[in-house]
Amino acid sequence: MKMKGKVSLVTGAALGYKNGGPSIGSAIAFKMVSEGAKVVVVDINEKMGQKTTEKIIKNGGKSIFVKCDVSKTEDVKKVIENTQKEFGELHCLVNCAASYEGDIFKNVVETPEKDWKHIIDVNLNGYYRFAKYGIPLILKSGGGTVVNISSAAAFEVLKNFSVYPVTKAAINSLTRTIAIDFAPEIRCNAICPGFVRIANSENNRSEKELKEWVNGISKTYPLKRVCSVDEIANVVLFLASEESSYINGECIVVDGGRSVSDSHEF
Ligand SMILES: NC(=O)c1ccc[n+]([C@@H]2O[C@H](COP(=O)([O-])OP(=O)(O)OC[C@H]3O[C@@H](n4cnc5c(N)ncnc54)[C@H](O)[C@@H]3O)[C@@H](O)[C@H]2O)c1
Repeated sequence: MKMKGKVSLVTGAALGYKNGGPSIGSAIAFKMVSEGAKVVVVDINEKMGQKTTEKIIKNGGKSIFVKCDVSKTEDVKKVIENTQKEFGELHCLVNCAASYEGDIFKNVVETPEKDWKHIIDVNLNGYYRFAKYGIPLILKSGGGTVVNISSAAAFEVLKNFSVYPVTKAAINSLTRTIAIDFAPEIRCNAICPGFVRIANSENNRSEKELKEWVNGISKTYPLKRVCSVDEIANVVLFLASEESSYINGECIVVDGGRSVSDSHEF
């Protein structure tokens, strides 16, 4: 029970589309509960966010759901207030919410300014807002951890996909500044996943298309498969708990070795 007696808050923790398929945030919430934490589930998607909390409570865990648009300061403040009211403390903040809305598969010239601003405001500023309003409660609770879900895209970029990697590179810097400014009471680290299989990105594909798509991506990874949401949740648990007690300010790549590999052979 690595999180026994702890309160964790996970943004972007709604289950995925359709029947509540896998998402990274919900897998993190379930992992936290399985290790004894009480969990505040946060998401803009009320229906699926409620589903995450219902599933936790059904399995005997303690959880509340708070609907929140991370781009709205008032919503973020409300989440922290509700956390304090319900559980009295906060020990672990996991920033995971991200938007893929808008015309963002474009270079900087072609990305519409409103879509650029939206992605910055949700994917980067959402992490900043939860840090700004959540850290004081963590300090009041005796200290704890912040885990930011970043991306391998912080280090290696795809052609014509410009704003998303910019937010992830900035999240890595945000991680390091929090790690230095709030040590020793708070440790802050980031996880940079490669491709992770989630329900939301599978939504519009047929079974056949899905298989071909995932097989194609799997081939580009040294482990010849893509990452599962549980494999990310395991690393979050490690960074959130005392198991990682001397790790601070790190951005850990979890991509099965893809970013250190080279397709070139001698
Ligand atoms: N899936 C991958 O391959 C992958 C790879 C690297 C990093 N990531 C990161 O993992 C995290 C989880 O994303 P995911 O890919 O699992 O997608 P996802 O769509 O399953 O999760 C994102 C969640 O954020 C929520 N959200 C979107 N806008 C919001 C807002 N304004 N306020 C509050 N919640 C909002 C969504 O409703 C959703 O539940 C993200 O930070 C993403 O960048 C994902």
